[in-house]
Amino acid sequence: MTLGSTLTPLTSTVWWAHTSDAADRLLRLLDGTERARNDRFRHQADRDRHLLGRAMARLALARLAQCPPEEVTFDLVCRSCEEKARAGADPGEREPHGKPVPSGPAGGWEVSVSHSGEWVVLAVAEGAPVGVDVERVSAARDLDGLVGYTLADAERSVWDALPPSERTAAFFGYWARKEALLKATGLGLSGGLRRVAVSPPHAEARLVSWSGGGGPEAAWLTDLDRGADYRAALAVLTDRPVRTVVRTHGDTVALLRS
Ligand SMILES: CC(C)(COP(=O)(O)OP(=O)(O)OC[C@H]1O[C@@H](n2cnc3c(N)ncnc32)[C@H](O)[C@@H]1OP(=O)(O)O)[C@@H](O)C(=O)NCCC(=O)NCCS
Ligand SMILES: [Zn+2]
Repeated sequence: MTLGSTLTPLTSTVWWAHTSDAADRLLRLLDGTERARNDRFRHQADRDRHLLGRAMARLALARLAQCPPEEVTFDLVCRSCEEKARAGADPGEREPHGKPVPSGPAGGWEVSVSHSGEWVVLAVAEGAPVGVDVERVSAARDLDGLVGYTLADAERSVWDALPPSERTAAFFGYWARKEALLKATGLGLSGGLRRVAVSPPHAEARLVSWSGGGGPEAAWLTDLDRGADYRAALAVLTDRPVRTVVRTHGDTVALLRS
């Protein structure tokens, strides 16, 4: 039997920053466009989360590419807008947005960033697209409406059968798994959460189906643990086995001070 190189494991590294790690000295790591965006947030908490995501990404990539963090650059890729443009539709005048794809010395690495509540998460992998999502479990004013917008029919049946006390957390669990996949592809939420169906909350995370085209050829999915108040998931678009390395918060603090 020949085991092809496709079975060589791929490593995805996950870094978690807490909003209390935000510090003004990190602002020097943002480029001009990021700095302008950061200035435009009205709430300090949004500024901190955005700053930590970009700073962590630059510092982690600089280590991997062995270059100064200032030399790490990102191209922003929104596959939803690319699809619209290919179909002849005008995606409209928008500021640059989308998935940050490392370029320059860090080209070839892939990253994804997500933030919710007190946590910011970064996932990094080499040679395969990654998507990460964290969601704070919070009482939604219109949970039924959100469920209708988010869950595919099969997911909805499972969710409806859950005891009411489990429904809120289960909803955010579904959301995190689905959005991690959509972010890995670069489609983002505009890709349509209902297009993507994942396994039920109590089952191991995996992509079940992708309707309407545009899905990945292969996808690996796992939940990440951020305690009872959060749900988080990591997707890697590969057919290779994936090893996840979750760095400690102490590692992140040291990274942000480096
Ligand atoms: C950004 C998006 C992925 C979800 O955002 P969210 O749930 O609010 O936020 P998260 O914290 O999980 O993720 C935000 C990060 O995703 C990344 N991101 C943005 N667009 C992305 C995309 N298309 N694919 C993958 N990642 C994306 C960015 O790094 C962003 O972090 P930053 O804003 O600090 O730089 C996006 O799909 C979204 O909400 N879009 C709203 C619809 C929209 O604006 N559409 C118009 C453009 S098509
Ligand atoms: Zn777009």
